[in-house]
Amino acid sequence: MREKIKKIEKEIEGLSAKSIEELEQLRIKYLSKKGLLSGLFEDFKNVTQEERKDIGKLLNELKNSLQDKINNLKQKFDDLQDSGKSDIDLTLPADFIETGSRHPISIIRAKIIEIYSRIGFTVSEGPEIEDDWHNFSALNFPEEHPARDMQDTFFIRKNPDIALRTHTSSVQIRVMENEKPPIRKLFPGRVYRNEAISSRAHCFFHQVEGLYIDKDVSFADLKQVLLYFSKEMFGEKTKIRLRPSYFPFTEPSAEMDISCFLCGGKGCPFCKHTGWVEILGCGMVDPSVLENCKIDSKVYSGYAFGMGIERITNLKYEVKDIRMFSENDIRFLKQFGSVI
Ligand code: PHE
Repeated sequence: MREKIKKIEKEIEGLSAKSIEELEQLRIKYLSKKGLLSGLFEDFKNVTQEERKDIGKLLNELKNSLQDKINNLKQKFDDLQDSGKSDIDLTLPADFIETGSRHPISIIRAKIIEIYSRIGFTVSEGPEIEDDWHNFSALNFPEEHPARDMQDTFFIRKNPDIALRTHTSSVQIRVMENEKPPIRKLFPGRVYRNEAISSRAHCFFHQVEGLYIDKDVSFADLKQVLLYFSKEMFGEKTKIRLRPSYFPFTEPSAEMDISCFLCGGKGCPFCKHTGWVEILGCGMVDPSVLENCKIDSKVYSGYAFGMGIERITNLKYEVKDIRMFSENDIRFLKQFGSVI
């Protein structure tokens, strides 16, 4: 009897089944009513009193290891079946990942920065939520001055008032308060105005401001830098024209037009038959603005300019409606995938 038990124990170690059918055969052979184990329990009835305890123990152990073995083999087939049932087909090709594209405003912003960085301008940024001093007062917009009406914005009345900045000129003040000349910087950023939204105006848009403060800076420097920029941005043949204008924080002030790049200046519907398109405001920094920032206006002078990124982007890509930039319409944005 002991011999028989040992022999089956050995067999158990090597048991394997290639299919569920084979496994079933094994189960019948060892564990069914007419199987080997039942046979052994039959034989057990004849075992002598002295040996009963020992052999009983051996038989029980054999039964347990047989059941464990069969269960383990069964588990393997169940696992295999489960993985076969899953919806995942590992042989399928991977999903195509759509590549995004840069937003047209980001493309033009980067282009403007790149053009000016070649002549030594670096970038600073300021907060979009501004106080009255940085957005207006330090820039020579006295309280109640009508120039403030042109830049109506979203206020929270507090003391002092806080507002969404109406232009990036506020960053001029922040930089001049904190840095010593020479200053040669660009300030890109988002600005806000209380405007009725239309194809040409929005309550938020983007600007890039430029500021250069040093000894002996003249209007000629400003004009030359703007001509350089215009040629780089719109092409070598581009001409510029400066028209006298008014900003409280520059004196003299000007608005700059570029020659229409569609008709070359001859006049077409795009430039309303004038041959020119307006792109930015500029001027020499008013001495009192320098003084507001504790820069000696007898020693230093400088120029500033500010342009709307949407405006330049509209011109470059002939976008007719400014609202397209913030509607997130994938059909519009997709068209810029191949640019830069
Ligand atoms: N801040 C002015 C605007 O938003 C533009 C400007 C900037 C004009 C710098 C002159 C100098 O209209």
